[in-house]
Amino acid sequence: MARPMPDNPFLQGIFSPLQMECDAPDLIIEGEVPGDLRGSFYRNGPNPHYAPRGEHHLFGGDGMTHAFHIAHGKVGYTNRWIRTAKFKLEAELERSAINPMNPFDSEEEYVEFVLTDKEGLANTACVWHAGKLLILEEGHFPYQVDPHTLASIGSYDFDGKLTTAMTAHPKVDPVTGELIFFAYMSQGPFESDISLYKADKEGVLTTSHLIKTPYPAMVHDFVVTRNYILFPIFPLTGSLERAMQGQPPFAWEPQMSSFIGVMPRDGGADSLRWIECDNIFVFHWMNGYDDDGVITSHQCQFQHPPLFPDVDGNITTDAKPYLSRWRIDMNDPNARVVHELIDENESEFPQVDPRYAMSEYRYGFYATPGSGTAGASGMYNAVGRYDHQTGSSVRYAFGDADSAATSEPIFVPKSDDAREGEGYLLAVATDTLANRSRLVIMDAENLSDGPLAQAYLNHKVPVGFHGGWRPA
Ligand SMILES: [Fe+2]
Repeated sequence: MARPMPDNPFLQGIFSPLQMECDAPDLIIEGEVPGDLRGSFYRNGPNPHYAPRGEHHLFGGDGMTHAFHIAHGKVGYTNRWIRTAKFKLEAELERSAINPMNPFDSEEEYVEFVLTDKEGLANTACVWHAGKLLILEEGHFPYQVDPHTLASIGSYDFDGKLTTAMTAHPKVDPVTGELIFFAYMSQGPFESDISLYKADKEGVLTTSHLIKTPYPAMVHDFVVTRNYILFPIFPLTGSLERAMQGQPPFAWEPQMSSFIGVMPRDGGADSLRWIECDNIFVFHWMNGYDDDGVITSHQCQFQHPPLFPDVDGNITTDAKPYLSRWRIDMNDPNARVVHELIDENESEFPQVDPRYAMSEYRYGFYATPGSGTAGASGMYNAVGRYDHQTGSSVRYAFGDADSAATSEPIFVPKSDDAREGEGYLLAVATDTLANRSRLVIMDAENLSDGPLAQAYLNHKVPVGFHGGWRPA
């Protein structure tokens, strides 16, 4: 029998999990869905199947994927939990037996399962590459699902060539079609390493490199430019000793230094340089590019990480992200990361026109508070387009801060040869008072005009992390 969710902010309100899976083939639409927008827009997020065991962390819920299939001016919707090994085990037991954020807090007979499980939670992001839709969660294998029905197929290991986890933030090279990705702590829990992988445009895993890192760190995202790959090592450290003593397995240790590993794309682990960086923190990068050995990147930068404690278990709640620019001059033997904030508005979940990934570009997109600063709920209610040429942004709020919420917007080009930024911005917006979500389709060049179309669900999509687009 299912039990009530415990008192935890990430299980209440717009975070509260959906208890159903459904198919709604023809959503009610306000406005007009552009006829040239054809494909599927996906959202992924944690959606605990049962009341979680132990102290619940936002990152610890079972993955649910939501798909909006768009064609001929119509929108259909499907949502499914991902049938990972953990999901199936607990479905059999009809309760939570596992604390995925701390294996040692699981029911004793399942501790070994958690330590050796390859499928994880599938709750973070997705990527469409080489004809496969992979649901991602950085601690485990990717998980393949049917792109139309979202039916679970199984964990995916690139024909046995992937032996580690895969980041939730792989990069697709728009020029070569390659998929470039990594795994941190790839040789075992809390190990000091990163494995880098490349799969060609057919999805064949061709390259892997093992990189030793200065210490075991959580590495959520990375940067790929035309000529370099950057691995950020911030002191959000992992520790088996802490975990076994009941202390935070992952904690912020600001007395340690930050390093950015910079590796030429055509080089190996022995060509990587560790570049020093101030102790800032970044979950997500908008894009990065290089010119004559000088690397520029843009990212949503925190002073210290949100959602994670220090070694004593204290969480600071005032961590706010702002768009920043990094410059790393690889011609300088003493190079350091030079960083500066470039946008006065808070922002997260940055995106770019995918055709301009890894190259110099003008426009980025993000979720942001309509007022520029998030209120007490911390939720964002607007999407924005940042113009790197003018240093300004255009933003659109889906309602007041106390009644509307949204997250990562995804940019879809109008056509293959459209100019940069000419296309559609897709996001899920939620009326937090009515507890209802809708797919919002906007003209990315005219955000302030408001939505071109909105496709309404009669339930809410709980706050999740990332999504993606699969062209029809
Ligand atoms: Fe992420």
